[in-house]
Amino acid sequence: MQMTDNTMLITCGNSGIGQGLAAAFHDLGNQVIITGRNQQTLDETVAAHPGMKAVVLDVADAADIQRVAAQLIQDYPALNAVIHNAGIMAEEDLKQGQPDSAEAHVNTNLLGPIRLNSALLPHLLGQPSATVMTVTSGLAFVPLSLNPTYSATKAAIHSYTQAMRYQLQDTNVQVIELVPPYVRTHLQGERQANDPHAMPLDEFVAETMAILSSNPDVSEVLVQRVHAQRFAEKRGEYDAFFKQMNDMLTAARKS
Ligand SMILES: NC(=O)c1ccc[n+]([C@@H]2O[C@H](COP(=O)([O-])OP(=O)(O)OC[C@H]3O[C@@H](n4cnc5c(N)ncnc54)[C@H](OP(=O)(O)O)[C@@H]3O)[C@@H](O)[C@H]2O)c1
Repeated sequence: MQMTDNTMLITCGNSGIGQGLAAAFHDLGNQVIITGRNQQTLDETVAAHPGMKAVVLDVADAADIQRVAAQLIQDYPALNAVIHNAGIMAEEDLKQGQPDSAEAHVNTNLLGPIRLNSALLPHLLGQPSATVMTVTSGLAFVPLSLNPTYSATKAAIHSYTQAMRYQLQDTNVQVIELVPPYVRTHLQGERQANDPHAMPLDEFVAETMAILSSNPDVSEVLVQRVHAQRFAEKRGEYDAFFKQMNDMLTAARKS
């Protein structure tokens, strides 16, 4: 993707990975517009990066997406890039039955990007050069049993991204999938934010930006830490990887 001269939208640019990417693209001189549900953290992020803009958007709300997307196109006609970053991740005990959690994951992680993408794509197709970046997970490639619906939504977004890339191959819109490994953010609360096993956020953002800069045609952004998971199936290691990861993390949760 082009790294400068973009007008880019980043969902949930007010925390974690989205905030890190928003700061990095802002520092390169791009016009960055962040969205989120929390006005206070949106304001704080914008205050720390003069020129950055913020808009409140709940990506689980279909009507909100329609309204905000139309307003964004009107306010920022140069809009040419979107990073579908907002997401939720919660553990689910399927023996207890957790339909509300499943629905929330699907609304936020799957329908959210699909709806926003549908609302923005006609505009992006009219730009000289545009980028759509989805954010999946290593868990799209080897699921974590503690997070069944989360893993399923990320696998679905991987599939949707591939299909979109094929459909848009002859257009001006580049389709990129960012595949984070386990990163030190508040996605699952304080434990993850302080987990030494998680990749430090600043290292993840720096490696991501380096991959994007050095490989303008990249289709999947894969930092080193996610390679084992991403390529487990290709290397014939899927069954062993799946069992080892799930046995280890299930045992850790019980201890
Ligand atoms: N950190 C990891 O280990 C990891 C690994 C793989 C993939 N990812 C993906 O990376 C993305 C960013 O996650 P993160 O790790 O940076 O965690 P994060 O800091 O918790 O960011 C996710 C953000 O999504 C926002 N969000 C949740 N539901 C929303 C909704 N309905 N509308 C708008 N915003 C909503 C939350 O904002 P509120 O403040 O409004 O709740 C939350 O701050 C997610 O898609 C996640 O699945 C993360």
